[in-house]
Amino acid sequence: MMRSVSRVLAPLVNGATRGFAAETFAARAGEPVQAINETNRGPSGIINVPTRLLMGPGPANAHPRVLAAQTLPLLGHMHPPFLKIMDEIQGGLRYLMQTDSKYTLMVSGTGHAGMEACIANLVEPGDKVMVGVSGIWGERVADMSRRFRGNVIELQAQLGSTLSYTTLKENLLQHKPAVLFLCQGESSTGTHQSLAGLSEICKQTNTLLLVDTVCSLGGVPLFADAWCVDAIYSGSQKCLSGPPGAAPLFFSQKAMDKMQRRKEVPATYNLDLNLIGDYWGWFGKRFYHHTGPVSTFYAMREAMALVAEEGLENMWRRHNEMHHQLWDGLKSLGLQPFVENDADRLSTVNTIKVPEGVDAMALIKNAMDKYDLEIAGGLGPTAGKVFRIGVMGFNAKPQNMALVVEAFKDGLKQQGKLKA
Ligand SMILES: Cc1ncc(COP(=O)(O)O)c(C=O)c1O
Repeated sequence: MMRSVSRVLAPLVNGATRGFAAETFAARAGEPVQAINETNRGPSGIINVPTRLLMGPGPANAHPRVLAAQTLPLLGHMHPPFLKIMDEIQGGLRYLMQTDSKYTLMVSGTGHAGMEACIANLVEPGDKVMVGVSGIWGERVADMSRRFRGNVIELQAQLGSTLSYTTLKENLLQHKPAVLFLCQGESSTGTHQSLAGLSEICKQTNTLLLVDTVCSLGGVPLFADAWCVDAIYSGSQKCLSGPPGAAPLFFSQKAMDKMQRRKEVPATYNLDLNLIGDYWGWFGKRFYHHTGPVSTFYAMREAMALVAEEGLENMWRRHNEMHHQLWDGLKSLGLQPFVENDADRLSTVNTIKVPEGVDAMALIKNAMDKYDLEIAGGLGPTAGKVFRIGVMGFNAKPQNMALVVEAFKDGLKQQGKLKA
């Protein structure tokens, strides 16, 4: 039976997104329903959404040029001008990841799609997969690897720190896993895992090094070839100033060889990199696998242009400088980093201890209500323990650091935790 237009469509066509779904979601998110119901048509006739400064762990605000690129007319997903845009994205990814490998592409989907593509294609049933766990992303990779029938060995880092070279070396030599997973930027704990020195041991143990760079790519140094990394996945909506929906991915020749030697095809059609690779021209001719998200790829083509214009080293420097500016301000308010060791601290997602007696939710709500500013709470092992502040991409600039510090100052004052 035809569903009634009044129930289903009227809230959309008459301008307000008032409705069951929006209200339920808003209530669940603890957000005032008002904000969502006020979403009316803007002057251009398309939906209007509130403007917010997204300083949590992501998404960060996209660059205006990236957003503008998404409004360009659609091309067919196999049209030569669109395939050229895809080629140019691949070139941008090679620069970003510092590799000459032919095997770069954007998986159509968010960081999780990149994660699952790497695991589904690299892990064969029974393979030993050693997973560094320094927060929820390691936990998730361990879970995913088990689903693809990997034999998972978890290496747990102490909360708020990373795995030492010695621990990694000893375990690699003992277990000789097929794959080692490390999360370069752990956004749930705010830690930065060093990859230094692992290439020699991984060579010795014939281990492929798989790295999550979802919240670090473009924000902190990464040299895929020089560090002998074999597979990387990332996200578009963090340091790359893009919208969510495209996951940068890289495979080394060694990773490619392992994938092509598989006894069984991966247990996923959607994320089979032999097939997706065909769409991206990895093997010469191009074949349809799925409809590429045309507008999102336009956006990422523009994001790659922004990276090239700024220069990677300048990007790394900017993120680092903004991270220091942020901490100078936070420390002047008496706030303390959750990650105690400087060397373990990630610059792109910062975790701040919730001081004794401070109502974190009230501070977060005040920042949103008064400044339209997103400050996030903890996630997984840090839930209730920290605030999280993203210093990423388009948002990594001085005035935003100053506003975040101001919002903390105001929130703490309101709770009587700072002298006026
Ligand atoms: C380090 C890390 N890995 C993976 C993910 C998952 O990415 P997505 O939410 O885009 O699927 C995130 C998302 O925040 C992340 O921060």
